[in-house]
Amino acid sequence: MYKSYKVADNFYWVGAIDWNLRDFHGYTTEKGSSYNAFLMMDEKITLFDTVKPHFADEMLERISDLVEPKKIDYIIVNHVEMDHSGALAKVVDIIKPEKLICSAKGKEAMLAHFKRTDWPYHVVKTGESISLGKHNVTFIETPMLHWPDSMFSYINEQRILVSSDAFGQHWATSERFDDEVDFGELMFQSGKYLANILMPYSNLIQKLLKDVTALGIKIDLIAPDHGLMWRKNIPAIIKAYDEWSRPTLRNKAVVVFDTMWKSTELMAQQVAEGLMSKGVIVKFMKLGENDRSEVMTEVLDSKAVIVGSSTLNNEMLPRVADMLTYMKGLKPTGRIGACVNSYGWNPAVIKKINAELESCGIKLVDEGIAVKYVPEQNDLKKCFDMGVKIAANIKD
Ligand SMILES: [Fe+2]
Ligand SMILES: [Fe+2]
Repeated sequence: MYKSYKVADNFYWVGAIDWNLRDFHGYTTEKGSSYNAFLMMDEKITLFDTVKPHFADEMLERISDLVEPKKIDYIIVNHVEMDHSGALAKVVDIIKPEKLICSAKGKEAMLAHFKRTDWPYHVVKTGESISLGKHNVTFIETPMLHWPDSMFSYINEQRILVSSDAFGQHWATSERFDDEVDFGELMFQSGKYLANILMPYSNLIQKLLKDVTALGIKIDLIAPDHGLMWRKNIPAIIKAYDEWSRPTLRNKAVVVFDTMWKSTELMAQQVAEGLMSKGVIVKFMKLGENDRSEVMTEVLDSKAVIVGSSTLNNEMLPRVADMLTYMKGLKPTGRIGACVNSYGWNPAVIKKINAELESCGIKLVDEGIAVKYVPEQNDLKKCFDMGVKIAANIKD
Protein backbone atom coordinates (compact mmCIF):
# COMPACT_ATOMS: atom_id res chain seq x y z
CA MET A 1 0.00 0.00 0.00
CA TYR A 2 1.48 3.34 -1.05
CA LYS A 3 0.94 6.26 1.33
CA SER A 4 1.19 10.03 1.03
CA TYR A 5 3.56 12.00 3.29
CA LYS A 6 2.82 15.40 4.74
CA VAL A 7 5.41 18.06 3.80
CA ALA A 8 3.64 21.20 5.05
CA ASP A 9 0.06 22.19 5.88
CA ASN A 10 -2.14 20.87 3.06
CA PHE A 11 0.95 19.98 1.00
CA TYR A 12 1.91 16.31 0.52
CA TRP A 13 4.58 14.21 -1.16
CA VAL A 14 2.96 11.73 -3.55
CA GLY A 15 5.93 10.73 -5.73
CA ALA A 16 7.77 7.46 -6.32
CA ILE A 17 11.01 5.92 -5.05
CA ASP A 18 13.16 4.14 -7.64
CA TRP A 19 15.26 2.11 -5.19
CA ASN A 20 17.05 -0.04 -7.74
CA LEU A 21 17.81 2.43 -10.51
CA ARG A 22 21.51 2.22 -11.32
CA ASP A 23 21.73 4.12 -14.60
CA PHE A 24 20.11 7.42 -15.51
CA HIS A 25 20.99 8.06 -19.14
CA GLY A 26 24.66 7.35 -18.49
CA TYR A 27 24.83 8.73 -14.95
CA THR A 28 25.50 5.93 -12.47
CA THR A 29 22.89 6.23 -9.74
CA GLU A 30 24.46 3.95 -7.16
CA LYS A 31 21.88 4.98 -4.59
CA GLY A 32 18.83 4.90 -6.87
CA SER A 33 16.60 7.93 -7.33
CA SER A 34 13.19 9.34 -6.58
CA TYR A 35 10.65 11.28 -8.61
CA ASN A 36 8.98 13.78 -6.36
CA ALA A 37 5.40 14.82 -7.04
CA PHE A 38 3.38 16.95 -4.65
CA LEU A 39 -0.29 17.48 -3.96
CA MET A 40 -1.76 20.72 -2.62
CA MET A 41 -5.13 20.17 -0.96
CA ASP A 42 -6.86 23.50 -1.55
CA GLU A 43 -10.12 24.61 -3.17
CA LYS A 44 -8.41 23.73 -6.41
CA ILE A 45 -6.64 20.47 -5.65
CA THR A 46 -3.35 20.67 -7.49
CA LEU A 47 -0.77 18.08 -8.48
CA PHE A 48 2.78 19.36 -8.98
CA ASP A 49 4.57 17.15 -11.53
CA THR A 50 4.27 13.41 -12.02
CA VAL A 51 6.67 10.46 -12.26
CA LYS A 52 8.20 7.99 -14.73
CA PRO A 53 5.56 6.09 -16.73
CA HIS A 54 5.90 2.78 -14.88
CA PHE A 55 5.47 4.52 -11.50
CA ALA A 56 2.08 6.04 -12.45
CA ASP A 57 0.11 3.52 -10.37
CA GLU A 58 2.36 4.07 -7.34
CA MET A 59 1.75 7.82 -7.54
CA LEU A 60 -2.00 7.43 -8.07
CA GLU A 61 -2.21 5.14 -5.02
CA ARG A 62 -0.34 7.69 -2.89
CA ILE A 63 -2.79 10.36 -4.10
CA SER A 64 -5.73 8.06 -3.29
CA ASP A 65 -4.47 7.98 0.29
CA LEU A 66 -5.63 11.63 0.44
CA VAL A 67 -8.28 12.09 -2.21
CA GLU A 68 -9.85 10.40 -5.19
CA PRO A 69 -7.47 11.31 -8.10
CA LYS A 70 -10.44 12.38 -10.23
CA LYS A 71 -11.00 15.24 -7.76
CA ILE A 72 -7.70 16.90 -8.78
CA ASP A 73 -8.41 20.19 -10.56
CA TYR A 74 -5.01 21.36 -11.78
CA ILE A 75 -1.83 19.62 -12.81
CA ILE A 76 1.30 21.79 -12.90
CA VAL A 77 3.94 20.48 -15.32
CA ASN A 78 7.22 22.10 -14.34
CA HIS A 79 9.28 19.92 -16.70
CA VAL A 80 8.35 17.66 -19.59
CA GLU A 81 11.28 15.22 -19.38
CA MET A 82 9.88 11.70 -18.98
CA ASP A 83 11.07 11.21 -15.38
CA HIS A 84 8.54 13.88 -14.36
CA SER A 85 5.96 13.72 -17.13
CA GLY A 86 6.10 10.15 -18.40
CA ALA A 87 3.04 9.28 -16.33
CA LEU A 88 1.04 12.20 -17.74
CA ALA A 89 -0.67 10.29 -20.57
CA LYS A 90 -2.25 7.88 -18.10
CA VAL A 91 -2.77 10.41 -15.31
CA VAL A 92 -4.46 13.10 -17.43
CA ASP A 93 -6.88 10.53 -18.84
CA ILE A 94 -7.85 9.43 -15.32
CA ILE A 95 -7.91 12.86 -13.66
CA LYS A 96 -9.30 14.91 -16.55
CA PRO A 97 -7.95 18.13 -15.01
CA GLU A 98 -9.51 21.51 -15.55
CA LYS A 99 -6.08 22.99 -16.25
CA LEU A 100 -2.70 21.60 -17.27
CA ILE A 101 -0.41 24.44 -16.25
CA CYS A 102 2.91 24.77 -18.06
CA SER A 103 5.29 27.17 -19.80
CA ALA A 104 4.87 27.93 -23.53
CA LYS A 105 7.78 25.59 -24.24
CA GLY A 106 6.16 23.04 -21.94
CA LYS A 107 3.02 23.02 -24.07
CA GLU A 108 5.17 22.64 -27.18
CA ALA A 109 7.08 19.73 -25.62
CA MET A 110 3.92 17.99 -24.40
CA LEU A 111 2.34 18.25 -27.84
CA ALA A 112 5.52 16.75 -29.32
CA HIS A 113 5.67 13.92 -26.78
CA PHE A 114 2.02 13.02 -26.32
CA LYS A 115 0.33 14.38 -29.50
CA ARG A 116 -2.68 15.40 -27.39
CA THR A 117 -4.21 18.56 -28.77
CA ASP A 118 -7.29 18.02 -26.57
CA TRP A 119 -5.52 18.54 -23.23
CA PRO A 120 -6.48 21.73 -21.30
CA TYR A 121 -3.11 23.51 -21.57
CA HIS A 122 -2.85 26.71 -19.57
CA VAL A 123 0.35 28.56 -20.42
CA VAL A 124 2.01 30.72 -17.77
CA LYS A 125 4.97 33.10 -17.82
CA THR A 126 7.50 34.25 -15.23
CA GLY A 127 5.82 36.30 -12.52
CA GLU A 128 2.33 35.07 -13.32
CA SER A 129 0.30 33.67 -10.42
CA ILE A 130 -2.62 31.29 -10.10
CA SER A 131 -4.92 31.08 -7.10
CA LEU A 132 -5.70 27.65 -5.75
CA GLY A 133 -8.03 29.10 -3.09
CA LYS A 134 -6.06 29.80 0.07
CA HIS A 135 -2.75 29.44 -1.74
CA ASN A 136 -1.29 31.28 -4.69
CA VAL A 137 1.36 29.78 -6.94
CA THR A 138 3.77 32.04 -8.84
CA PHE A 139 5.76 30.66 -11.75
CA ILE A 140 9.38 31.30 -12.70
CA GLU A 141 10.51 30.05 -16.10
CA THR A 142 13.96 28.44 -15.88
CA PRO A 143 14.77 27.57 -19.51
CA MET A 144 17.50 24.90 -19.90
CA LEU A 145 17.43 24.02 -16.21
CA HIS A 146 17.10 21.42 -17.37
CA TRP A 147 15.13 21.60 -20.66
CA PRO A 148 13.74 24.61 -22.57
CA ASP A 149 10.35 24.02 -20.92
CA SER A 150 11.53 23.96 -17.29
CA MET A 151 10.00 26.21 -14.67
CA PHE A 152 9.74 26.58 -10.91
CA SER A 153 6.49 26.91 -8.95
CA TYR A 154 6.55 29.05 -5.84
CA ILE A 155 3.79 28.71 -3.25
CA ASN A 156 3.63 32.24 -1.89
CA GLU A 157 1.95 31.71 1.47
CA GLN A 158 4.13 28.79 2.58
CA ARG A 159 7.27 30.02 0.82
CA ILE A 160 7.76 26.66 -0.87
CA LEU A 161 9.83 26.57 -4.05
CA VAL A 162 9.06 23.51 -6.18
CA SER A 163 12.32 23.58 -8.08
CA SER A 164 12.00 20.83 -10.68
CA ASP A 165 15.46 19.41 -11.54
CA ALA A 166 17.41 22.12 -9.69
CA PHE A 167 18.75 21.40 -6.18
CA GLY A 168 17.97 17.68 -6.53
CA GLN A 169 19.95 14.52 -5.98
CA HIS A 170 19.66 11.01 -7.37
CA TRP A 171 19.27 9.30 -4.01
CA ALA A 172 16.47 6.94 -3.05
CA THR A 173 15.64 7.40 0.63
CA SER A 174 12.80 6.82 3.04
CA GLU A 175 13.75 10.19 4.57
CA ARG A 176 12.26 13.29 2.95
CA PHE A 177 14.23 16.25 4.36
CA ASP A 178 17.84 17.43 4.26
CA ASP A 179 18.24 17.38 8.05
CA GLU A 180 17.25 13.71 8.25
CA VAL A 181 20.26 12.40 6.33
CA ASP A 182 24.04 12.70 6.53
CA PHE A 183 24.93 16.23 5.42
CA GLY A 184 28.24 15.25 3.76
CA GLU A 185 26.55 12.58 1.66
CA LEU A 186 23.74 14.98 0.79
CA MET A 187 26.16 17.61 -0.50
CA PHE A 188 28.19 14.97 -2.36
CA GLN A 189 25.05 13.67 -4.11
CA SER A 190 23.92 17.24 -4.85
CA GLY A 191 27.31 18.05 -6.40
CA LYS A 192 27.32 14.82 -8.37
CA TYR A 193 23.87 15.70 -9.69
CA LEU A 194 24.90 19.19 -10.76
CA ALA A 195 28.13 17.92 -12.35
CA ASN A 196 26.34 15.27 -14.39
CA ILE A 197 23.07 17.02 -15.26
CA LEU A 198 23.32 20.79 -14.97
CA MET A 199 27.00 21.63 -15.55
CA PRO A 200 26.50 22.69 -19.21
CA TYR A 201 24.02 25.29 -17.99
CA SER A 202 26.23 26.79 -15.29
CA ASN A 203 25.84 30.32 -16.64
CA LEU A 204 22.06 29.92 -16.43
CA ILE A 205 22.34 28.80 -12.81
CA GLN A 206 24.22 32.01 -12.12
CA LYS A 207 21.46 34.01 -13.84
CA LEU A 208 18.76 32.10 -11.97
CA LEU A 209 20.35 32.77 -8.58
CA LYS A 210 20.50 36.47 -9.43
CA ASP A 211 16.90 36.49 -10.70
CA VAL A 212 15.59 34.76 -7.57
CA THR A 213 17.52 37.20 -5.38
CA ALA A 214 16.14 40.13 -7.42
CA LEU A 215 12.59 38.84 -6.99
CA GLY A 216 13.20 39.04 -3.26
CA ILE A 217 11.27 35.88 -2.53
CA LYS A 218 11.76 34.19 0.81
CA ILE A 219 12.15 30.43 0.74
CA ASP A 220 11.32 28.18 3.69
CA LEU A 221 11.40 24.94 1.73
CA ILE A 222 12.96 23.89 -1.56
CA ALA A 223 11.15 20.89 -2.98
CA PRO A 224 13.13 19.48 -5.94
CA ASP A 225 11.82 16.73 -8.20
CA HIS A 226 14.57 14.29 -7.13
CA GLY A 227 15.82 13.35 -3.68
CA LEU A 228 15.62 15.22 -0.40
CA MET A 229 13.81 18.50 0.23
CA TRP A 230 15.73 21.39 1.76
CA ARG A 231 14.35 23.03 4.89
CA LYS A 232 17.36 23.44 7.18
CA ASN A 233 20.32 23.90 4.84
CA ILE A 234 18.81 26.21 2.20
CA PRO A 235 21.67 28.78 2.43
CA ALA A 236 24.22 25.94 2.12
CA ILE A 237 22.76 24.51 -1.09
CA ILE A 238 22.28 27.99 -2.64
CA LYS A 239 25.90 28.82 -1.81
CA ALA A 240 27.08 25.49 -3.22
CA TYR A 241 25.12 26.05 -6.46
CA ASP A 242 26.71 29.48 -6.73
CA GLU A 243 30.22 28.05 -6.24
CA TRP A 244 29.75 24.99 -8.46
CA SER A 245 28.31 27.06 -11.31
CA ARG A 246 30.83 29.92 -11.28
CA PRO A 247 32.74 27.51 -11.16
CA THR A 248 34.90 27.93 -8.08
CA LEU A 249 37.83 25.60 -8.78
CA ARG A 250 40.23 24.16 -6.25
CA ASN A 251 43.91 23.41 -6.31
CA LYS A 252 42.94 19.96 -7.52
CA ALA A 253 43.52 17.72 -10.54
CA VAL A 254 41.75 14.66 -11.90
CA VAL A 255 44.03 12.14 -13.59
CA VAL A 256 41.69 9.86 -15.53
CA PHE A 257 42.97 7.05 -17.71
CA ASP A 258 42.65 3.55 -19.08
CA THR A 259 45.62 1.34 -19.77
CA MET A 260 46.31 -1.76 -21.83
CA TRP A 261 49.57 -3.21 -20.41
CA LYS A 262 50.27 -0.69 -17.60
CA SER A 263 52.52 1.67 -19.59
CA THR A 264 49.91 4.44 -19.66
CA GLU A 265 49.18 3.82 -15.99
CA LEU A 266 52.86 4.25 -15.09
CA MET A 267 52.95 7.52 -17.03
CA ALA A 268 49.71 8.77 -15.44
CA GLN A 269 51.10 7.90 -12.01
CA GLN A 270 54.14 10.05 -12.58
CA VAL A 271 52.00 13.00 -13.70
CA ALA A 272 50.04 12.53 -10.45
CA GLU A 273 53.31 12.39 -8.46
CA GLY A 274 54.50 15.61 -10.09
CA LEU A 275 51.22 17.31 -9.20
CA MET A 276 51.29 16.02 -5.63
CA SER A 277 54.90 17.14 -5.16
CA LYS A 278 53.59 20.70 -5.60
CA GLY A 279 50.73 20.29 -3.16
CA VAL A 280 47.94 19.71 -5.69
CA ILE A 281 45.05 17.50 -4.53
CA VAL A 282 44.93 14.58 -6.96
CA LYS A 283 42.13 12.18 -7.83
CA PHE A 284 43.69 9.24 -9.66
CA MET A 285 40.89 7.48 -11.52
CA LYS A 286 41.23 4.39 -13.67
CA LEU A 287 38.26 3.98 -15.96
CA GLY A 288 36.55 0.69 -15.41
CA GLU A 289 37.16 0.98 -11.67
CA ASN A 290 35.62 4.48 -11.78
CA ASP A 291 32.72 5.34 -14.02
CA ARG A 292 32.20 8.48 -16.05
CA SER A 293 29.78 10.10 -13.58
CA GLU A 294 32.19 9.60 -10.67
CA VAL A 295 34.90 11.26 -12.75
CA MET A 296 32.68 14.24 -13.56
CA THR A 297 31.84 14.63 -9.86
CA GLU A 298 35.55 15.12 -9.18
CA VAL A 299 35.96 17.39 -12.22
CA LEU A 300 33.30 19.69 -10.73
CA ASP A 301 35.75 21.54 -8.48
CA SER A 302 39.05 20.58 -10.16
CA LYS A 303 41.23 23.06 -12.00
CA ALA A 304 43.00 20.42 -14.10
CA VAL A 305 42.00 17.31 -16.03
CA ILE A 306 44.73 14.99 -17.28
CA VAL A 307 43.73 12.14 -19.58
CA GLY A 308 45.73 8.98 -20.27
CA SER A 309 45.09 6.29 -22.86
CA SER A 310 46.91 3.49 -24.58
CA THR A 311 46.49 3.20 -28.33
CA LEU A 312 44.25 0.36 -29.52
CA ASN A 313 44.02 -0.21 -33.28
CA ASN A 314 45.05 3.40 -33.97
CA GLU A 315 42.38 4.78 -31.62
CA MET A 316 42.18 5.68 -27.95
CA LEU A 317 40.81 2.99 -25.63
CA PRO A 318 36.99 2.74 -25.76
CA ARG A 319 36.46 3.77 -22.12
CA VAL A 320 38.54 6.91 -22.69
CA ALA A 321 36.52 7.77 -25.81
CA ASP A 322 33.33 7.21 -23.81
CA MET A 323 34.57 9.47 -21.00
CA LEU A 324 35.60 12.24 -23.38
CA THR A 325 32.29 12.11 -25.26
CA TYR A 326 30.40 12.35 -21.96
CA MET A 327 32.63 15.16 -20.70
CA LYS A 328 32.31 17.11 -23.98
CA GLY A 329 28.54 17.28 -23.50
CA LEU A 330 28.95 18.56 -19.94
CA LYS A 331 31.37 21.31 -21.03
CA PRO A 332 33.74 21.66 -18.06
CA THR A 333 35.11 24.98 -19.30
CA GLY A 334 37.61 27.01 -17.29
CA ARG A 335 39.85 24.01 -16.60
CA ILE A 336 43.32 23.23 -17.92
CA GLY A 337 44.58 19.87 -19.11
CA ALA A 338 47.02 17.62 -20.92
CA CYS A 339 47.35 13.96 -21.88
CA VAL A 340 49.66 10.96 -21.86
CA ASN A 341 49.64 8.02 -24.26
CA SER A 342 51.53 4.80 -24.86
CA TYR A 343 51.40 3.31 -28.34
CA GLY A 344 52.87 0.45 -30.36
CA TRP A 345 53.41 1.81 -33.83
CA ASN A 346 51.15 4.83 -34.44
CA PRO A 347 51.73 7.92 -32.26
CA ALA A 348 48.75 9.84 -33.71
CA VAL A 349 46.28 9.16 -30.89
CA ILE A 350 47.73 11.91 -28.73
CA LYS A 351 46.43 14.45 -31.27
CA LYS A 352 42.96 12.94 -31.05
CA ILE A 353 42.92 13.14 -27.25
CA ASN A 354 44.15 16.73 -27.33
CA ALA A 355 41.43 17.64 -29.85
CA GLU A 356 38.78 16.05 -27.64
CA LEU A 357 40.07 17.87 -24.56
CA GLU A 358 39.87 21.15 -26.45
CA SER A 359 36.32 20.28 -27.53
CA CYS A 360 35.51 19.90 -23.83
CA GLY A 361 36.54 23.54 -23.37
CA ILE A 362 39.73 22.48 -21.58
CA LYS A 363 42.80 24.61 -22.26
CA LEU A 364 45.87 22.52 -23.06
CA VAL A 365 48.95 23.57 -21.09
CA ASP A 366 51.22 20.95 -22.63
CA GLU A 367 51.33 19.19 -25.99
CA GLY A 368 51.17 15.86 -24.13
CA ILE A 369 53.57 12.92 -23.90
CA ALA A 370 53.42 9.85 -26.14
CA VAL A 371 55.76 6.90 -25.51
CA LYS A 372 56.38 3.88 -27.72
CA TYR A 373 55.62 0.59 -25.90
CA VAL A 374 57.07 0.93 -22.38
CA PRO A 375 58.24 4.16 -20.74
CA GLU A 376 61.90 4.42 -19.78
CA GLN A 377 63.06 6.24 -16.68
CA ASN A 378 63.58 9.47 -18.66
CA ASP A 379 60.04 9.21 -20.08
CA LEU A 380 58.64 8.87 -16.57
CA LYS A 381 60.71 11.89 -15.51
CA LYS A 382 59.08 13.87 -18.36
CA CYS A 383 55.65 12.81 -17.06
CA PHE A 384 56.59 13.89 -13.53
CA ASP A 385 57.80 17.23 -14.89
CA MET A 386 54.56 17.65 -16.80
CA GLY A 387 52.73 17.23 -13.49
CA VAL A 388 54.92 19.96 -11.98
CA LYS A 389 54.22 22.22 -14.98
CA ILE A 390 50.45 21.67 -14.69
CA ALA A 391 50.69 22.45 -10.96
CA ALA A 392 52.36 25.77 -11.77
CA ASN A 393 49.52 26.56 -14.22
CA ILE A 394 46.87 25.62 -11.65
CA LYS A 395 48.27 28.23 -9.32
CA ASP A 396 48.45 30.95 -11.97
FE1 LIG B 1 15.36 16.87 -16.50
FE1 LIG C 1 14.64 15.00 -13.52
